[in-house]
Amino acid sequence: MDMKYIDSEIWAIAGGKGGTGKSFLTSQMAVALAEKNKKVIVIDTDFGGANIHSFFGLKKKTSSLNLFFDDKEPLQNLIIETDIKNLSIIPGDYNAITIDSIKYMQKLKLLRHIKKLEADYILLDLGAGSTFNTIDFFLLADKLTVVTVPEITAIENLFQFIRNTYFRKLFFLLGVYGLKNKAKEIWKNRKKHKITNIIGLIDFIKTELDDNPAILAELSDFSINIILNKLRNSSEIDQGFSIRSLCLKYLGVNALFSGYVEYDFQFWKNLSLIQPNSNINISPRIKKEIFQITENIINEKQIKIGTARYG
Ligand SMILES: Nc1ncnc2c1ncn2[C@@H]1O[C@H](COP(=O)(O)OP(=O)(O)OP(=O)(O)O)[C@@H](O)[C@H]1O
Ligand SMILES: [Mg+2]
Repeated sequence: MDMKYIDSEIWAIAGGKGGTGKSFLTSQMAVALAEKNKKVIVIDTDFGGANIHSFFGLKKKTSSLNLFFDDKEPLQNLIIETDIKNLSIIPGDYNAITIDSIKYMQKLKLLRHIKKLEADYILLDLGAGSTFNTIDFFLLADKLTVVTVPEITAIENLFQFIRNTYFRKLFFLLGVYGLKNKAKEIWKNRKKHKITNIIGLIDFIKTELDDNPAILAELSDFSINIILNKLRNSSEIDQGFSIRSLCLKYLGVNALFSGYVEYDFQFWKNLSLIQPNSNINISPRIKKEIFQITENIINEKQIKIGTARYG
């Protein structure tokens, strides 16, 4: 057995709102990793609108993750090479029946198979919103990244997404340790316990969990990388730091502001000009920004306040 890829790392990219640039950034972070000579596979896990193939100029969905669920096709057989060295994809093409019937066990099975793929990095491009499928695949990854644009509606949706994700993780852990019903009971009697919101509930549970350091450790391990996309001026960079502070204050979640990407006014031209099997041409500045974000995610670092400038 080839041991070289035994430690593939799974990155999941999601976010609350549609159209913020998740698929674009997933594809470009994959390019950045491939250019570092790492073997990368991008898997389209956007069950509502699979389109990652288009970001690599691949027009036809010749194979799809759907076949893994429907026909038990081995994942290995669904991989399609792109014309970028070290980079291949597993496209998606899902029907409603398959999506609705994916059980948690099947997700775990898919994860096991994903982990066996020969790659250094496996990137999951997830759909918008907070459906269970999206949240579950997100939580199964090693590194969690969300993408937002600097608009209040997008940031609200991002918050809901992070809160729902954190809550699902918490209840999943409570379930594992047989404490789910107790937590539900506490929430039901929240007035009595003077709990007003989720962070209050989590704080309450945490004090109750003093004898259960395993859950506390797993909860404090929960960390999210934030990317701000489509910035139109450098004053918008500050929103990344605000989101980070809000996550900590209202959710108790450690969020890292991994970086920002400018709005590329030439972009529509590039996408419409894609030829089959060719990569999108992006501006050198955007390429640099995405490279920096990728480095930050690898190293679990974030941009420093006051140093971020562009233009
Ligand atoms: N930095 C950017 N500058 C200009 N256009 C961008 C930028 N990032 C993404 N776009 C464009 O915005 C649109 C949405 O991007 P993308 O499909 O990556 O978003 P998404 O979050 O994956 O959407 P969905 O929720 O539908 O999956 C695309 O047309 C994409 O080309
Ligand atoms: Mg997408």
